[in-house]
Amino acid sequence: MRTVVFSILFLLLIQINIQGQSKEVIQVETNDLTMIFTASQNEKVIFQYWGNKLDGVSSFLDRKVKGQPDTNDDFISQLYPAYGGRYYLNPALKLTHDDGVLTSELVYAGSRTKTLDSNKKETVVSLKDKLYPVYVDIRFVAYQKENIITQSATIYHNEKNTVKVENFASSYIPLHAESYYLTHFNGTWAAEMQMEEEALTHGIKVVESKKGVRTTQSENPSFILSLNGPSKEDSGEVYAGSLAWSGNYKLSFELDETGKLGITSGMNPFASTFYLKPEQKLEAPEMVLTYSANGIGQISRNYHDWARKYAMAHGDQLHPIILNSWEGAYFTFDEKTITDMMDNAAKFGVEMFVLDDGWFGNKYPRNGDNAGLGDWQTNKKKLPRGIPYLADYAVNKGLKFGIWIEPEMVNPDSELAKKHPEWIVKSGKRDILPMRNQWLLDLSNPAVQDFVFKTFDDVVSMSPNISYIKWDANRHVDNVGSDYLPASEQTHFWYEYVKGLYNVYEKIRAKYPDIQIQLCSSGGGRVEFGALKYHDEFWASDNTNALDRIFIQYGTNLFFPAIATGSHVSTSPNHQTGMMAPLKFRFDVAMSGRLGMELQPKDIQGDEYEFAANAIKDYKQIRPIVQLGDLYRLISPYDKNDWASHMYVSKDKKQSVLFAYSLKYHGRTTYFETKLKGLDPTKNYKITELNVKPGQSSFYGNGQTFSGDYLMKAGINLNIGNPFDSAVLLISQE
Ligand code: GLA
Repeated sequence: MRTVVFSILFLLLIQINIQGQSKEVIQVETNDLTMIFTASQNEKVIFQYWGNKLDGVSSFLDRKVKGQPDTNDDFISQLYPAYGGRYYLNPALKLTHDDGVLTSELVYAGSRTKTLDSNKKETVVSLKDKLYPVYVDIRFVAYQKENIITQSATIYHNEKNTVKVENFASSYIPLHAESYYLTHFNGTWAAEMQMEEEALTHGIKVVESKKGVRTTQSENPSFILSLNGPSKEDSGEVYAGSLAWSGNYKLSFELDETGKLGITSGMNPFASTFYLKPEQKLEAPEMVLTYSANGIGQISRNYHDWARKYAMAHGDQLHPIILNSWEGAYFTFDEKTITDMMDNAAKFGVEMFVLDDGWFGNKYPRNGDNAGLGDWQTNKKKLPRGIPYLADYAVNKGLKFGIWIEPEMVNPDSELAKKHPEWIVKSGKRDILPMRNQWLLDLSNPAVQDFVFKTFDDVVSMSPNISYIKWDANRHVDNVGSDYLPASEQTHFWYEYVKGLYNVYEKIRAKYPDIQIQLCSSGGGRVEFGALKYHDEFWASDNTNALDRIFIQYGTNLFFPAIATGSHVSTSPNHQTGMMAPLKFRFDVAMSGRLGMELQPKDIQGDEYEFAANAIKDYKQIRPIVQLGDLYRLISPYDKNDWASHMYVSKDKKQSVLFAYSLKYHGRTTYFETKLKGLDPTKNYKITELNVKPGQSSFYGNGQTFSGDYLMKAGINLNIGNPFDSAVLLISQE
């Protein structure tokens, strides 16, 4: 009751009357963070502050900004700047009205706040054009405990005719500092999420995708922006954002002549003009935002907590250890190949077997990547007793069973392509360009959405023992165009494709809430929160080479949690890179994500067999810490010293696991040292080295007890100085 009274008093206090006009403070708050805007009816909404919570919020009401709002709009930070008035920077909104007028002026029309549940608060700020019946609602959801704020926008209008929406961002963040350092994630197939950090200079830096599908392979729609110096792990002000959208996106960072930075994020406007009819609503996806005054470590922990609870399927349940058939069998297998793999997998203690590509197609059998996609019937020659037989076999061996599909795609050599040429994405009469010998189905078409849903439904219905689907998507969009969309709406394709995909995902999740789904897109082509919501995990990359995985997983885990990062031990020499690495190194890397294997298990023999079976047993012990704990990065692989190390710490700080890797030869006199993080300084911890052969421990204190304070202040050293040396330490409270 007292809180309610105080809140009402506070709200009254922060509404003051300036020249007869009521001015308000609008606050979007989590437990530790706040965004603050000021607003008066029919005036632009001013973006005042985004950062740690502060006292004296009402002072924002008469805070003076240099210049007059009505003469220098371009220098004033707005919540959602539109192209119009004196605003000439990158706008969040640009549209053409039905009478041809190119400008808009969005002013305040009210706001409302609603408690969605004990952890989620929604705030909607309504804006309207000063002259035209155009309305934009900016919606925030503040996740209290996780310190995450999502921002999205909805636009609609009552003009007589269609309005042309040309730019429609999800969020705009204005910042003002001495300097700005942008971290973004560049990549390509088999080398996704490579981190790059750069000092921003005047002008516009853009991170974007125009690929439509596999949109995160070359760049990821996530960024970290550090103020006044490069980002650090445990200190410094950092802002971060990640767009929850599985289509084209654009993040732009504009440093203007006044030294202010405007970050505009949302769907990519490129070739995407949207012809919005009266009353029709267009929704921009959610931008997922957070801030830390103490470096990027906290940023990652915020995203991970939030993702496990709100942005992935089954983020609160331990994920199984998988053997995936791809690198062990590729397209060449029969029933016995698969049952042998299952026999061996079960012996190792693996918990699930996944049958990858190659199991379907009869008229056009899927014996390579050049035929069969689209024809989702079991290949009778390879698997005469069908999938149910294999799924039952797995279950009888104590394994769960999963299967691969790529339902958005079709090979020209398939029954489907011949039957439904109108379903294929194509640009009028131009050639349909193949990629990996395949074409893309047009998900803007509801008939295709039905087909994709039915594919999933039929495949899952083959056996009640199918509990996991690996959903792949191995090409992007080029020569864009849709036979379904009218000529005047071809530019809607990019939006409608993603909406179509989400329709299918929604239907699938409504019918199959329990099934596990892996989000794969040639590896890491769909690593973003829009799609993850419907899935249990990503396949972060087709590159299973442990050394490369250290970098790929470092980038991926800056935003996305380990529980969602499929991370498999493969054979040596590695199939993608030809690099040789010890089995221990390969396990030590894979065990820091959702462990699996991607090889022919019968090839692991003798000592290596013992080692692998033991490592799998140990993973089961550390799994709750890795999958549900807090990540603390100790040494970045990007630092020039060529070591890498990180820890996971259980929420109650009772258990922790440390991973350490040597990436090159360090000479005899240099050794690995690090201070631990995240432990309880008042408690004692016993350290046990895992994945170690008797007598070969790399830690001098193996089996001994240390205080948390000692471990975090004095730290430890490890004897890992050769290329591919590594160590895994279990740190348990006594
Ligand atoms: C993609 C996936 C792989 C595998 C193959 C099968 O490349 O990323 O894991 O499933 O397709 O064709």
